[in-house]
Amino acid sequence: MECICLSFGSLLLALSVLSFVHADEHYNNLTSLKAKTYCDMFQGSWVFDKAYPLYNWSSCPSIRKEFNCEKYGRVNDQYLKYRWQPIGCNLPRFNGEDFIRRFKGKKIMFIGDSLSLNFWQSLVCLLHAVMPQANIIRETNDTVSTFTFQEHEVSVMLFHSFYLVDVENESVGRVLKLNSIKNGDTWKNMDILIFNTFQWWGRRGPKQPWDYIQEGKKTYKDMNRMIAFQKGLTTWAKWVDSEIHPEKTKVFFQGISPSHYHSGKEWNKPGVTNCGKETKPLKGSTYPGGTHPATKIVRNVLSRMKRPVHLLDLTTLSQLRKDAHPSSYNGFKGMDCTHWCIPGLPDTWSQLLYAALIQ
Ligand SMILES: *[C@@H]1O[C@H](CO)[C@@H](O)[C@H](O)[C@H]1NC(C)=O
Ligand SMILES: *[C@@H]1O[C@H](CO)[C@@H](O)[C@H](O)[C@H]1NC(C)=O
Ligand SMILES: *[C@@H]1O[C@H](CO)[C@@H](O)[C@H](O)[C@H]1NC(C)=O
Ligand SMILES: *[C@@H]1O[C@H](CO)[C@@H](O)[C@H](O)[C@H]1NC(C)=O
Repeated sequence: MECICLSFGSLLLALSVLSFVHADEHYNNLTSLKAKTYCDMFQGSWVFDKAYPLYNWSSCPSIRKEFNCEKYGRVNDQYLKYRWQPIGCNLPRFNGEDFIRRFKGKKIMFIGDSLSLNFWQSLVCLLHAVMPQANIIRETNDTVSTFTFQEHEVSVMLFHSFYLVDVENESVGRVLKLNSIKNGDTWKNMDILIFNTFQWWGRRGPKQPWDYIQEGKKTYKDMNRMIAFQKGLTTWAKWVDSEIHPEKTKVFFQGISPSHYHSGKEWNKPGVTNCGKETKPLKGSTYPGGTHPATKIVRNVLSRMKRPVHLLDLTTLSQLRKDAHPSSYNGFKGMDCTHWCIPGLPDTWSQLLYAALIQ
């Protein structure tokens, strides 16, 4: 991986490690210094790059009408031309041929809500773009959708789950079970897992897909949703710790994907209540509205795990992309400032996933 990392702290760290290991040969070898220095891929900014996007929607086998912005009338295509530039290094360019070679015979599964669906579709489009002639087998049942690149024996799968923990029908109604994960046997057989949950924890009213919350033996009508999220995520973390064999399965957590509705005030446009007119990302590397409140919970839960889970920490870089949502350019004519256009931002998530996998 190409990595030119010049932040002061990491430089010092690298120098001390290197001088300890191979003082003589490496002390003046900047190439190896760069390669060995840690770089935070998730800190950076968006730069305009004419070479983007990496593919055209019309060549992708499947983009849901919710995400296919250009097809549904988005004319301004500037949002497709930004590249994520980490501060201390470059993100490796997505190399679909390399990806497919490395993961021949492997199963990659995204597990979560519609933001997993968004991510999954991006990865399928990116892989298809390098092998447009490949035979793709598509299989779908109630919970799992699979694209298999037949000759390459690579399956890219999506497991639909709002909460990762279970929701079950019982005589009282639908119960969100904070301590229960029953789908794990399917997940365990995969080679790469990318989990995500958050959007649905805050849902109320008719769209809330449960009637009661159960924790241990106690059942509640409701509870603080951030606490519920933290408890559910902790159950998932325990499941990973006890059920996943790290030598077989690599586990990622897809960071919280931000929405841009009542958030204009967060970038000094207090009147803006959706993403409908946004055509440019925010400049710089920090989101003026601050850290997403759920990020703290995610970091906290992940930091207590025994097994290494790689956090795809895409929240801030996505917060900067108020221009990258479908807004009204989708096949259902609603205003969507939650999901992301494809091609678009999720292709950067795929690049970050690739970078983490080849590290
Ligand atoms: C520097 O290190 C890299 C990687 O270890 C190696 O390929 C290269 O030959 C080295 N260059 C010099 C001048 O020692
Ligand atoms: C994508 O392909 C369509 C149809 O071939 C074409 O009209 C459009 O200009 C292309 N979009 C971009 C951004 O190149
Ligand atoms: C759906 O497909 C997946 C993957 O092929 C399989 O593991 C699962 O058992 C299927 N579920 C049902 C209900 O058929
Ligand atoms: C659970 O109940 C809901 C209605 O309350 C129904 O729509 C759904 O099909 C039920 N699911 C199962 C698995 O029985």
